[in-house]
Amino acid sequence: MNQTYSRSDSKVEVKGLEARHYDALMNFVTGGTYPIFIRQVVRDMAIQPKDAILDLGSGSGRNACLIARYLSGEGRIVGLDIGPEMLEQARRHCQHLSNVTMEEQRVEEPLPYRDEFDKAFISFVLHGFVQEDRLRIVGNVYRALRPGGQFLILDYDEFEPDQSFWPVRFAFRHIECPLATDFVRRDWRAVLLQQGFGEFQVHRYYFGYVRLLGARKLDIKEGDKLP
Ligand SMILES: C[S@@+](CC[C@H](N)C(=O)[O-])C[C@H]1O[C@@H](n2cnc3c(N)ncnc32)[C@H](O)[C@@H]1O
Repeated sequence: MNQTYSRSDSKVEVKGLEARHYDALMNFVTGGTYPIFIRQVVRDMAIQPKDAILDLGSGSGRNACLIARYLSGEGRIVGLDIGPEMLEQARRHCQHLSNVTMEEQRVEEPLPYRDEFDKAFISFVLHGFVQEDRLRIVGNVYRALRPGGQFLILDYDEFEPDQSFWPVRFAFRHIECPLATDFVRRDWRAVLLQQGFGEFQVHRYYFGYVRLLGARKLDIKEGDKLP
């Protein structure tokens, strides 16, 4: 816990070949289970037909395409990403969906949204930031959600990597972004409570190493506790 991390430890900016083949890579590293897993996650998100959904770090657009299946013409998705290859794929994958837009936007920088989204989804992105930037993202989400709106974090669950199943331990020591180790050691419910969220819901996958954590925006005064 005492280790300090810097922005240069981050591997969350997926580029080049890895970005162009990101979906295939995820299918491969999960032994072909990713498509089943992500469909289950999207079911667990309990999307309503009229939901307005913000997808932070939207990647190839695979998630947005799956989410869009649950929306009516009145629902919409706004995806945010900075990777040129990711944005190009996402726009191509979602071009048949008139209610999906993809914007080039850093998610840790101030966002132009206030009280307008029903859900904010962030999938395998938050762990890749230093805690200061994670709190900026949480603050951005707080402002973007309408009161009662839901923040949905799909990422690693909380655990001690040094005591995990050996392939997980190996991945966290040698492959995964070093910031992921810091991420899984934190108490995210406590962090989110501090930032104005509550009413938590949890779904777990992959032997409990991955979690969808849902948290509602509570009705506290803007700026009370935000960074
Ligand atoms: C590990 S991928 C996850 C993609 C997608 N959410 C998914 O679950 O398939 C991380 C994504 O975050 C994007 N990203 C990294 N840093 C970002 C930033 N500062 N602002 C917005 N997007 C960012 C990357 O370009 C990449 O698409």
